[in-house]
Amino acid sequence: MTICYTLSQLSETLASFPKDIQTGFVPTMGALHEGHISLVKRAAEDCREVVVSIFVNPTQFNNLDDLAKYPRTVEQDCLMLEKAGATVVFIPSENEIYPQKDERVFDLGELDKYGEGPRRPGHFNGVAQVVTRLFDLVKPGYAYFGEKDFQQLAIIRYFAAKLKYPVKIVSCPTVRESDGLAMSSRNMLLSADHRAAAPSIYKALKKAADITSAQNLSLNCPAPEELAEIVAGEINSNPLLKTEYVEIVNAITLKPVKSWEEADEIQLCTAVFAGKVRLIDNQKLK
Ligand code: PAJ
Repeated sequence: MTICYTLSQLSETLASFPKDIQTGFVPTMGALHEGHISLVKRAAEDCREVVVSIFVNPTQFNNLDDLAKYPRTVEQDCLMLEKAGATVVFIPSENEIYPQKDERVFDLGELDKYGEGPRRPGHFNGVAQVVTRLFDLVKPGYAYFGEKDFQQLAIIRYFAAKLKYPVKIVSCPTVRESDGLAMSSRNMLLSADHRAAAPSIYKALKKAADITSAQNLSLNCPAPEELAEIVAGEINSNPLLKTEYVEIVNAITLKPVKSWEEADEIQLCTAVFAGKVRLIDNQKLK
């Protein structure tokens, strides 16, 4: 596994790849866990060369404290990546990615109007800045993203298509702890009490999925807004958890739906505070 810290090291390494192969790419911010590793393993199944980037992107943080607190475990990350089948790790400095301030403003359709968008102003534009920059550098044939960040995945699909990047976006299922909590680099910031409370989030999401599948989305099924309130009530019944939002949305446009007939694919998306740590999760309902 080759570790590259600079653009010139990266381009030299990429130039050594055979011309006729497609590169797999997994962008990350490090502090890796089995969720990230599942993406790398999938990429290694599909592609001979797998590039993983580790870069804590400042432009997608709207809170400087959050950026400062973001966990950094690069040495351990590299050990995990080598085992998982990565062939190149790219660990650039901020100057390499942003030699000048990135002023680009992206068209994200209406996809950033809901969910995380209004709660984290500028976040998805920052994600678009770094992902396009990385796509330009790595020129992957395939890029892998987790369904854990459902809105991010939808937005990346949108701008990659709109900007005609010749890359196939591959989505990978959410990897969970054995108690159901979605794996996240932020989980290590949870206090013991909040960690013990956090699995209630997935329990509430599963309950919603059980209700919609048992009712087969018939007239007996609570309407989406009503079900969102039931889920929020379940989560908030634990005094250590506080929902920021629970939205039941069209899985393509991300717009909240009023009825189950309104869209072919429907997803429940939520953000929950466990103390100061903000956790997100989502669940397919239709
Ligand atoms: P990061 O949070 O490090 O996540 C990197 C990738 O791992 C994302 O595609 C994310 O969806 C995926 N991932 C995280 N937890 C997962 C889990 N439990 N199961 C499956 N996949 C999971 O997302 C980012 O970084 C950044 O926004 C990035 C795209 C790298 C741009 O800076």
